[in-house]
Amino acid sequence: MGAPDAEMALRVEDLSVLVGGRTILERVSFALAPGELCGLIGANGSGKTTLLRSLLGFVAPGGGTIRLGGDGARRLGYLPQKVSVDPFMPLRARDVVALGLDGHRLGLPLPSRRRRARVDAALAAVSADGFADRRIGTLSGGQQQRVFIAHALVRRPQLLLLDEPLASLDPSSATEIATLLRRISRETGIAVLMSAHEINTLVPVMDRVIYLAGGRAAAGPVAEVIRSDVLSRLYGHHIDVLNVHGRILVVPAPGAGHDQPHVTRVP
Ligand SMILES: Nc1ncnc2c1ncn2[C@@H]1O[C@H](COP(=O)(O)OP(=O)(O)OP(=O)(O)O)[C@@H](O)[C@H]1O
Ligand SMILES: [Mg+2]
Repeated sequence: MGAPDAEMALRVEDLSVLVGGRTILERVSFALAPGELCGLIGANGSGKTTLLRSLLGFVAPGGGTIRLGGDGARRLGYLPQKVSVDPFMPLRARDVVALGLDGHRLGLPLPSRRRRARVDAALAAVSADGFADRRIGTLSGGQQQRVFIAHALVRRPQLLLLDEPLASLDPSSATEIATLLRRISRETGIAVLMSAHEINTLVPVMDRVIYLAGGRAAAGPVAEVIRSDVLSRLYGHHIDVLNVHGRILVVPAPGAGHDQPHVTRVP
């Protein structure tokens, strides 16, 4: 971890990550400003989770630097991929959110009145106040996802890392949560980095994109990255970027080899 960065919420330079002796990410660079929402896009196994875990310090980088903004206090919120909930777990939605206040904090805990206010604010931010007192296991997947986002938000992180938060949602819930995250990042100045294997839900909300393929990344504003020339360079063979009825399709040229990009399908 390098020195803090005064202006950016996160700056990653030439990050390489090896897992079990295999290079998973090679010289990945990108930056994220406060209040920006950035999509981390790539096919299964492209290294999205590995990248998020390395930002969290769970995976040691093999090279490069990761600099967090602000005062450098490592205030990260994190929602792991696929959180499973026991249907009989005796915790209400608000208890799950309150757990986000504990566990990482040094010093005295917040007084209970302030804790309650922080939990209520996080639940309201994700429009989960209507089911705050229901048991987590009785909520729908989309409702649970809101609660988990509130859990990651409640400590007011500078940077929110979300691993495929839209994966189990139907298209309209996915759009709703993506829009909600957009609003939270804009209103609070929290930088949001969220992974997805499908780009289209995120296109209307993201300021930037990091596109992973073959261990390498292309990063920048969407219009500068999701382009035939940029993705062809990334994959090392010809890629077409098609716009079909307002949706983006990333497709390899026929016979382009085994390292096929993810084809974003029109539903
Ligand atoms: N602990 C580990 N041990 C060995 N290999 C691993 C480990 N974690 C990840 N990998 C490998 O690293 C590569 C990237 O995995 P990662 O989970 O980061 O991909 P991903 O983009 O998050 O995929 P998905 O969309 O399926 O979640 C994969 O080839 C995976 O098998
Ligand atoms: Mg993953």
